[in-house]
Amino acid sequence: MVEKSKVCVTGSGGFIASWLVKFLLSRGYTVHGTVRDPCKCDEKNDHLRKLENAAKNLKLFKADLYDYEGLSSAISGCSGVFHIATLVPFEGVPLTEAKLIKPALTGTKNVLKACTEAKVKKVVVVSSIAAVVYNPKWPQDVAKDENCWSDTHYIYSLEGYWPYYYLAKTLMEHEALEWSKRSLSDVVTLCPSVIIGPRLQSTLNSSSLGLLKFIKGGIKSLLSDQLYLVDVRDVADALLMVYENAEAKGRYICNSHSLHVNSLLKKLKNMCPKRSFPENFMEGKEKEVNEVRPLSSEKLQNLGWKFRSLEETIDDSVVSFEVAGDLPKP
Ligand SMILES: NC(=O)c1ccc[n+]([C@@H]2O[C@H](COP(=O)([O-])OP(=O)(O)OC[C@H]3O[C@@H](n4cnc5c(N)ncnc54)[C@H](OP(=O)(O)O)[C@@H]3O)[C@@H](O)[C@H]2O)c1
Repeated sequence: MVEKSKVCVTGSGGFIASWLVKFLLSRGYTVHGTVRDPCKCDEKNDHLRKLENAAKNLKLFKADLYDYEGLSSAISGCSGVFHIATLVPFEGVPLTEAKLIKPALTGTKNVLKACTEAKVKKVVVVSSIAAVVYNPKWPQDVAKDENCWSDTHYIYSLEGYWPYYYLAKTLMEHEALEWSKRSLSDVVTLCPSVIIGPRLQSTLNSSSLGLLKFIKGGIKSLLSDQLYLVDVRDVADALLMVYENAEAKGRYICNSHSLHVNSLLKKLKNMCPKRSFPENFMEGKEKEVNEVRPLSSEKLQNLGWKFRSLEETIDDSVVSFEVAGDLPKP
């Protein structure tokens, strides 16, 4: 069992990190959260200050991923660190290779260096299934598991700016696991699939926007026809689980639902009969719909990880969009 005292969460105002901070505070941890602007005038992080136990046990630190001193101050005195901050592409915002890969890699190195200096016992790094699934050599009929790594040469052959994000996640995860071999800290990585669910922060993050666009207009903006989805609260649970369990080692895929985009739409139509969805969206070959390639979270489930039903996640996501005014009530 890892000591329950002070932990640092990088990028603490983001979608996943906010839920993790909430769970940590509710379990009695003291949390050092890094944000790019901790100023009280910045409403972006107001939700963190409103969390239960935040007044007493949450301290926000200013730190960009390039800012070693800032990260080091936040990490100093902590026994554990959750490294979550990464720039996630937001649809429509032009991004280059340098803007995605350099901060992810430099940030991970800075965090790990500060962890070694501060003699942090355990570090949990949030990677992504992007670091797992882009491997054309993996047998088609075998579920991808933690032994499967994305092939960086293959990723380079893909088009658009998303591949730079896939590359950033693959390289940062490699770096983190390699680091653990030569440092005092125990490093575990978590590779979540596309994360949806209710959000605590007021701003829209990239994956929530993907789901919102999908519900609003049936726009295929969730990256691919083969969908891998997980609830944000289940990801936060998984992060806590791999942190607190001394047996947790290496990398963990964190995926709950593997389905074709048409199956998701069918589900949404059943669950939200008052909403209108474009008809042409249902086109698609039945064979493809039934042939979503498997992605195994068995290693995480063996630690005791459980996840919500997709219906619960969708219900809570829709309510969250309605409350925030992103989605009109039907
Ligand atoms: N959402 C998904 O579907 C998904 C799936 C798999 C893995 N992940 C991973 O999960 C992590 C969190 O993602 P999320 O969905 O919660 O996205 P998010 O809400 O956009 O959170 C990203 C966080 O990183 C911070 N950040 C970005 N660039 C930074 C920089 N240069 N210096 C310091 N902080 C920086 C952001 O701070 P600002 O608020 O100041 O921008 C934000 O707090 C990321 O590592 C992402 O790769 C996400």
